[in-house]
Amino acid sequence: MTGRTPTFSPARLLAWYDRHARRLPWRVAPADAKAGEIADPYRVWLSEIMLQQTTVAAVKAYFEVFTTRWPSVSALAAADEADVMKAWAGLGYYSRARNLKACAETVARDLGGRFPEDEEALRRLPGVGPYTAAAIAAIAFDRPATVVDGNVERVVARLFAIEEAMPAAKPDLRRLAATLTPTTRPGDFAQGMMDLGATICTPKKPACALCPWNDGCAARASASPEVYPRRTA
Ligand code: ADE
Repeated sequence: MTGRTPTFSPARLLAWYDRHARRLPWRVAPADAKAGEIADPYRVWLSEIMLQQTTVAAVKAYFEVFTTRWPSVSALAAADEADVMKAWAGLGYYSRARNLKACAETVARDLGGRFPEDEEALRRLPGVGPYTAAAIAAIAFDRPATVVDGNVERVVARLFAIEEAMPAAKPDLRRLAATLTPTTRPGDFAQGMMDLGATICTPKKPACALCPWNDGCAARASASPEVYPRRTA
């Protein structure tokens, strides 16, 4: 140890994200965001519902079909439920599709077609749990919400070499993740964390040499970063 407190500056992650962000159909690329483009909450919400329990690769084609056919939350609210269920076929977990339709109807009918901006109000919508509410608040509205999925848990467990095993470690990982969340560009920060976990800080053979936070990472210093997050046998 050097005695220096490791700090994981949001600016480093954001600089990495500016260069390496994945191009995803629901995402405003960092360069476009700098040029003034703003996220469409409908597309952010739709993508987050689809991404629950489904991979990015599988979601892309469905996302294109849905947004072409129903380009707004009002259009989806007015759609025939059977058509929505048919378009969802293959994504699985069909309660998500029923909640999707119910949520679109609530937003269109009760909220004037506008998604709420804060986590608590978002959480009251059908199918929107704590994770999804935080993701929408951060990505669609640039609220400093802490977005914690499996990727983020892995990144945080490694940065701090958390010895407590999963799932008991979850509350600590969430608390630590919250300490990292910035008030500037929280949406890009959340997406940068996801991308870091998906492309660099991977479950097996993480590419530490390419990580913007490698110098302070406690797991990397331990020489076996992949053992984190710890699991009970
Ligand atoms: N997984 C869940 N939400 C995601 C997002 N917005 N971008 C990439 N992967 C995700």
